Amino acid sequence: MSCFLCNSSLGKKLVMSITGCGLVLFLLFHMSMNLVALFSAEAYNTICSLLGANWYALVATAGLAALVVLHFVFALILTINNYRARGKQRYAVTANEPGVEWASKNMLVLGVIIVLGLGVHLVHFWSKMMLVELMGAEGSMVAGEFVHATDGAALIAFTFSKWYNVVIYIVWLAALWFHLNHGVWSMVQTAGWANDIWYPRLKCIAKIVSTLVVLGFMAVVVAFFVCSLCGDCATAAACADSCASCTDACCAGHAH
Ligand code: HEM
Repeated sequence: MSCFLCNSSLGKKLVMSITGCGLVLFLLFHMSMNLVALFSAEAYNTICSLLGANWYALVATAGLAALVVLHFVFALILTINNYRARGKQRYAVTANEPGVEWASKNMLVLGVIIVLGLGVHLVHFWSKMMLVELMGAEGSMVAGEFVHATDGAALIAFTFSKWYNVVIYIVWLAALWFHLNHGVWSMVQTAGWANDIWYPRLKCIAKIVSTLVVLGFMAVVVAFFVCSLCGDCATAAACADSCASCTDACCAGHAH
């Protein structure tokens, strides 16, 4: 079995497909959880504290890390094998495939952008939440203010009040959209589900899933950035309550 998974091309694709499926499920959960921050900082922080540094959250994080590493390593191996197999033919083959989507030809590059973005993202959030708790601290200093390790809403408000973070996240999420768009379809195709009837349906499902995931994440980025534009009311609590409870004078007249 392990030989089949590691030595055959189909086996490696199956590993990509299974790990990819796990990662998509994580993204759907993570995106849905983040949407809560648009409505209530309190509710969001309650979820964050449930997912703090306890044993089940740690097991889930370790499992998630394993999925990312496996997905990335097998993608690298498959790309190198394809590259070697095609030899000098690779350019001619690419030129003869006008119907092949841009994303499908750039999955590894998109994957690298996603991993780099993930690194930045983990520094923004995970390092100030779970890692801080694992190190036995209550919280950390962020831009001169003490932020509790479970105050995810405050970190979101702070992170997306900076325009350059908004730009970084939008580029990251765009790469994620292209990657998921091809990835979700390819995942099901590897499982042998694609035939003439299901081929267009699966493409459509892949587009819907990737758009839902990316729009959900994007909504949080944009909403918190727009909220931060109203000056002093960019304090975490006011913004994280989606500005509904923001009574600062600077907010008067703004349509939040
Ligand atoms: C743009 C909106 C996003 C926001 C506001 C957000 C927020 C957060 C927060 C608050 C945490 C820390 C949770 C904790 O340690 O308790 C976190 C962790 C994490 N995020 Fe995100 N996230 C976003 C997008 C993404 C995306 C697009 C990905 C993947 C491509 C991602 C992957 C992760 C991972 C892998 C972790 C670590 C999870 C763990 O500790 O088990 N996030 N995120």
